[in-house]
Amino acid sequence: MNILLLGSGGRESAFAWKLSQSPKCEQLFIAPGNAGTGQYGTNVNIRVTDFEGIGQFALNKNIDLVLVGPEEPLVKGIHDFFLNDDQLKNIPVIGPQREGAQLEGSKDFSKQFMVRHNIPAAASKTFTKDTLNDGFEYIATIGLPVVLKADGLAAGKGVLICLSVEEAQRELNEMLTEAKFGDASSSVVVEQFLQGIELSVFVMTDGTHYKILPEAKDYKRIGEGDTGLNTGGMGSISPVPFADAAFMQKVEDRIIIPTVDGLKNENISYKGFIFIGLMNCEGEPWVIEYNCRMGDPETESVMPRIESDLVDLLIGVAEGNLNEKELIISDKIAATVMMVSGGYPGEYLKNKTITGIENVRGSQVFHAGTYLDNETVKTSGGRVLAITSLQDNMFVALQQATADAARIYFDGMYFRKDIGFDLL
Ligand code: AMP
Ligand code: GLY
Repeated sequence: MNILLLGSGGRESAFAWKLSQSPKCEQLFIAPGNAGTGQYGTNVNIRVTDFEGIGQFALNKNIDLVLVGPEEPLVKGIHDFFLNDDQLKNIPVIGPQREGAQLEGSKDFSKQFMVRHNIPAAASKTFTKDTLNDGFEYIATIGLPVVLKADGLAAGKGVLICLSVEEAQRELNEMLTEAKFGDASSSVVVEQFLQGIELSVFVMTDGTHYKILPEAKDYKRIGEGDTGLNTGGMGSISPVPFADAAFMQKVEDRIIIPTVDGLKNENISYKGFIFIGLMNCEGEPWVIEYNCRMGDPETESVMPRIESDLVDLLIGVAEGNLNEKELIISDKIAATVMMVSGGYPGEYLKNKTITGIENVRGSQVFHAGTYLDNETVKTSGGRVLAITSLQDNMFVALQQATADAARIYFDGMYFRKDIGFDLL
């Protein structure tokens, strides 16, 4: 079959790498892709939010399946766009329709969903400009730190963890009355802080059945020892040692089953991935957030551990018979180190020539923010390359990914050398 993958990051490189290994994949197109995705298929210069362009391309190239990488087109309704068009409606789209994508697109929607289905999550209330004073009062009562979340998509920046009541009240005021995060913060969820260690759990669902993909841990801070500014993610590891069978059973019983059943019972058609951001609080799982897509850089650690044919699994999602498909997961450990541009996550350097990729021996290099300038690979994004090593032993995987990252060079490059070592 012919597959169109939407997106241009490390996640999409890992997807493209895995899709292209399937005997069921005839032609693979990636829109818009990057210098790395071009190794596994054909890049197409169409933006992920250009629904008309994507639809036209899908018809022209006889696309049989569309896999959506990032959240933005899902929240904006790309799946609905296909379903509402007579010519496109029979092309399956992997990723929820607009309503289901609200699990990520609206923090208030997702919190209310969790409350309706008794899914463990931090206590919270949602406020708008009109209820600012109630918000101030609530902040004073829920204990410190206080977590503020802009309701809408804010490019990963909409969550603030405030250490004092005054700070939280000032920030709430700025979010609601001064549009600190634009429209995204016209409504703000105020919630209790959960103390624990985070992990990412991924579920693939056809709306009725589900498969639990390998879990992963993401390292969000720019600095070693988890210090400094938040980033999109500086590395990941899968599996996560503290997510043992007993913990994962709790996750399945208390979170995954109520989530999939809840969507179905509310008639929210959902075919795609559910990314559950969890806090492990003394062995008990609590939901921090849902995303309606796979994680980045988690996908770069998750895909190498999936031994089954991803295309076959996606067909199961599309056709509603995921229960008949097999998901085999490798026991090996995947470690991913993200190489980023100088200055990231602030203003960062661009258009730097990347050298040394050919010297990498024990890892897979997934491109994220790269492009081809004639024959030369150059940097275009903050997160540039994800270096993943799959090994029998966790220490070896971590050491190999880190050593391979050091074999690559671009001006101003940076990567954390401590990814995963805290878990040994
Ligand atoms: P989000 O944008 O929802 O992923 O939140 C960003 C980060 O804020 C999460 O990855 C957590 O590290 C942190 N966070 C969000 N909600 C909470 C909470 N209730 N308690 C503690 N940390 C949180
Ligand atoms: N790694 C976190 C995310 O993809 O949102």
